[in-house]
Amino acid sequence: MTEVYGIIGYPVSHSLSPLMHNCAFKELKISAVYGCFEVKPEELKQAVEGIKALGIKGVSVTVPHKEKVMEFLDEIEETAREIGAVNTILNENGVLKGFNTDWIGVLKAFEVSGVEVKGKKVVIIGAGGASRAVVYAVKKAGAEAVEVYNRTFEKAVKLAKQFDIIPKKWEELKKAWGDIIIQTTSVGMNSWESPVEEEVIARFNTAMDIVYTPLKTKFLNLAEKYGIIIDGLKMLLYQGVEQFKIWIKKEPPVKLMEKTLYSALQERELWKGK
Ligand code: ATR
Repeated sequence: MTEVYGIIGYPVSHSLSPLMHNCAFKELKISAVYGCFEVKPEELKQAVEGIKALGIKGVSVTVPHKEKVMEFLDEIEETAREIGAVNTILNENGVLKGFNTDWIGVLKAFEVSGVEVKGKKVVIIGAGGASRAVVYAVKKAGAEAVEVYNRTFEKAVKLAKQFDIIPKKWEELKKAWGDIIIQTTSVGMNSWESPVEEEVIARFNTAMDIVYTPLKTKFLNLAEKYGIIIDGLKMLLYQGVEQFKIWIKKEPPVKLMEKTLYSALQERELWKGK
C-alpha cells in the first residue's frame, strides 16, 4: 500500500517540501507520496484528528501551526518541548508524536558551510516562531553570547528569559556587532528589503537568512562582501533530511534532495523574472 505523508500550514501551496520528499521516495523506491494540506488555524484540531483517522504516516508542520499543534498530539519529544515548537509529526500505530528538526537544520547548515558556532558572539534578528529553533541551536552549539533583537521588544524579552540570552531593543540593532548574524524575520520574503543596514552587517563575518524566496535575499546580498553567507534553503533541506529519517528510518539521498530544491527555486525565480 502507498503510504501518505504531507505538510500542514497556511498558506502552504508554495512549499518546496513535497518536491524534496517525493524525489527521495522515488530514488529509494519507497511506495509513498507527500502532499500539501492547507489547514486554516481554526481547523487545526480536526486536521490532526484526520492524520489518525486517515492513517497518514508523517506530517511536516509549518507556519502558523508549529506551536499550537502541540496541544493536539499524544507525545512530544523532549527537544521539541524545550523549543516550544513542533515541525514534524510521526504517526506510529495511531500514536502521534511531535518532534522538532528545525534546530538540527540550522546546525547542519552551519556545518556544511564550514562555520563553527562554538565560542562565537551571535546576533539573532526576530523573536517569532522560527527564531526559537535558531536560538536553541546556537546555544546547543556553544555560542558564547547570544543577543536577540525584535521589533516587539516584549517578545524578545520572553524568548531571552526562556533560553537565557540577551534581549535587545529594535533601535539598538544599528549598534549590533559580533561574529554571526542570523535573520529570522519575514522581512525580505518576496521583497527586496533587509531589516538591517549594510554598515551593521559589515561587522559580522557570517550571515544566515532563513528566508529563501529569493534565494539570495537583500540581506545576504549585502553580507556577501564581508564573509560567508548561508541561504535559507540549507535549513529547509536539513530539517527535511531529519524528518525523513524519523519517518522512514533510513538515510535519504541528501544530494538529490538538495539539487531538486535548488533547481526548483531557480526555475521559479527565472520564471518570475520574465
Ligand atoms: P515565524 O514563525 O516565521 O518566525 P512569526 O512567529 O510570525 O513567524 O514571527 C515573525 C517575525 O518577523 C517576528 O519577529 C516579527 O516581529 P514582531 O514580533 O515585532 O511581530 C518579525 N517581523 C515581521 N515583519 C517585520 C517588519 N516589517 N519589521 C521587523 N520585524 C518584522
